[in-house]
Amino acid sequence: MSYAIEIKDLTVYYNSTCALSDINLTVAENDFLAIIGPNGGGKSTLVKSVLGIVRPQCGEIKIFGYDPEKYAVPIGYVPQFSHSIHDFPISVIDVILTGRLQGRTGLFHRYSKKDYETAENLLDRLNITELRNRQISQLSGGQFQKVMILRALATEPELLLLDEPTANVDNDSKTQIYEFLKEINNSVTIILITHDTAAISSYVKNVACLNKKLFYHGEIELDNDIIQKTFGCPVDLIAHGVPHRVLRDHGE
Ligand SMILES: Nc1ncnc2c1ncn2[C@@H]1O[C@H](COP(=O)(O)OP(=O)(O)OP(=O)(O)O)[C@@H](O)[C@H]1O
Ligand SMILES: [Mg+2]
Repeated sequence: MSYAIEIKDLTVYYNSTCALSDINLTVAENDFLAIIGPNGGGKSTLVKSVLGIVRPQCGEIKIFGYDPEKYAVPIGYVPQFSHSIHDFPISVIDVILTGRLQGRTGLFHRYSKKDYETAENLLDRLNITELRNRQISQLSGGQFQKVMILRALATEPELLLLDEPTANVDNDSKTQIYEFLKEINNSVTIILITHDTAAISSYVKNVACLNKKLFYHGEIELDNDIIQKTFGCPVDLIAHGVPHRVLRDHGE
């Protein structure tokens, strides 16, 4: 069995704040893993550790069997808050093309025919070719998120990390995004951080519950006990297949 990601005994502190405590997690190739947990639970920190943006106090991370510091594997990443670039004067196609730059920066870089073909093919696959020349400031929130996902895929990564890509996205666009992710999951391992429980039950293969510690990692057979441990209170329970709501009152 080969793994896309292997995390052993990972602990991360920001000064005196412990964000992740002794995390062990393996993600198989072509998995579609959702990570859920409360605000401040360390989900973004975990993704940033995999990317090498955050340095752990201890632990080991391997990506496709390699130490990422020694062997740079292309990873697609959609950060949690990319809104700050929403106002930049740049077109959709140019944003996606920047995804092709990984490791190829140069002041006068010119994109190749292959770069354009890759970017245009992605626009086509998500059915947003008509947005090609639009300024990103003129996109709706959902359209902008789609462009950010395509930008992450422009690197042709084998691993895609998405940090709440469907926050503020309407239901139709959510469905389009999840259907698209499901399709590309044939060739790309996906880790999705989300608070979107409907998506979890319908699209992902496995789920991990994170609140500083990892409380559960496996197929989607969560029970109230695990959810309560992760969130500290009862929340929507997620079942396989049909989204299914089992909500108990606090203190019950
Ligand atoms: N750069 C930072 N410096 C100091 N503390 C940080 C930093 N980034 C995150 N933290 C703290 O680490 C903890 C985990 O934060 P993280 O952003 O990983 O949570 P999260 O699960 O992604 O939350 P959310 O659902 O709100 O996005 C929180 O207590 C947060 O305040
Ligand atoms: Mg976060």
